[in-house]
Amino acid sequence: MKNKIQAKFKELFGEGGELFMSSGRINLIGEHTDYNGGYVFPGAINYGIMAQIKLNGTDKVKVFSIDFNEYVEFALKEEDKPKQSWACYVFGVCRETLKRGGKVAGFDAVFAGDVPLGAGLSSSAALESVFAFAINELNGNGIEKFELAKIGQSTEHNYCGVKCGIMDQFASVFGKEGALMRLNCKTGEYKYFPFHPKGYKLVLIDSCVKHELASSAYNKRRESCERAAKAIRENHPDVDFLSDAKRVWLDEVRDKISEEDFIRAEYVIGEVQRVLDVCDALERDDYETVGEMMYQTHFGLSRLYEVSCEELDFLNKLARKYDVTGSRVMGGGFGGCTINLVKEELYDGFIKAAKEQFAAKFGHEPKVYDVVISDGARKLQ
Ligand code: GLA
Repeated sequence: MKNKIQAKFKELFGEGGELFMSSGRINLIGEHTDYNGGYVFPGAINYGIMAQIKLNGTDKVKVFSIDFNEYVEFALKEEDKPKQSWACYVFGVCRETLKRGGKVAGFDAVFAGDVPLGAGLSSSAALESVFAFAINELNGNGIEKFELAKIGQSTEHNYCGVKCGIMDQFASVFGKEGALMRLNCKTGEYKYFPFHPKGYKLVLIDSCVKHELASSAYNKRRESCERAAKAIRENHPDVDFLSDAKRVWLDEVRDKISEEDFIRAEYVIGEVQRVLDVCDALERDDYETVGEMMYQTHFGLSRLYEVSCEELDFLNKLARKYDVTGSRVMGGGFGGCTINLVKEELYDGFIKAAKEQFAAKFGHEPKVYDVVISDGARKLQ
């Protein structure tokens, strides 16, 4: 990847430029909790996006995507938004940096990545973070890391149409090798948890069903949660977010909200607690409890939050059958991967079965990614 980027940069822009890198993410538990002010528990992974960037002395951004084999050039006023969706991420990051008072001098860039697209591993957050980080460095803006993550999040909101939470960009910016991070999305407090589950492997199985977060289903889930929180707030004014609510407070408003909003909220309130339970269990090296919570999350995401699909439910069931310790759909859902915590001695048998049985039912093999918890946004060299 590095050689390709450097060769292309030289061809298009000549000498110079600095290399930056950012990562995709996994999330052990805490799904759809971030925009509800709850906890998440992600980590950056060994799949990422690398960019070579150099200030070009103009007021234009000139950027080439190796993966899309496409060159785009744009200026930095609001009306200069490019047509290509990948370029909107870069443009959005520039605009959001400017909105925060940062400087964005024109630059040349070439980038490439190995985060599978649409697999729920946050390739978009990796793209936002690598540019947010690099632009901050090259212009000497001194914007702090949490704000860099927010630049990525606002890019999604304002330039890509997804009303996402902060988890993906946070993980991508703050990721640290060998550590998961428990983030309180309401207060921004976070804690690193070393994650070296002895005797277990963390593996992702990609259903290859492409999810389209922007396809409004994600935003609809968020609206359901906001309506439920609003109803609860009438009785309990301190409830800023759904994650502040107790389960019984939700029951109090059962007649005031739709059944759909109720089950969405029921899932979220349960999930916030599960993150805390998983962190406690990890401190005792109790992976059985961690795994059981993952299965509970899958059940909730599938039946209550309704962001799973036939392929992912199939993989989850298969995991149970093969005694996998924990398994669930990961990320926004509607396709993508399951994340599986599996005992080393069961790994080969499970992966073989998953490939064969999935292919027999759905006509194609799923992809398998062994993930390593890695560093987030950084300058290379
Ligand atoms: C997507 C969003 C995140 C988060 C997850 C679900 O990845 O970008 O903010 O809401 O879905 O946990």
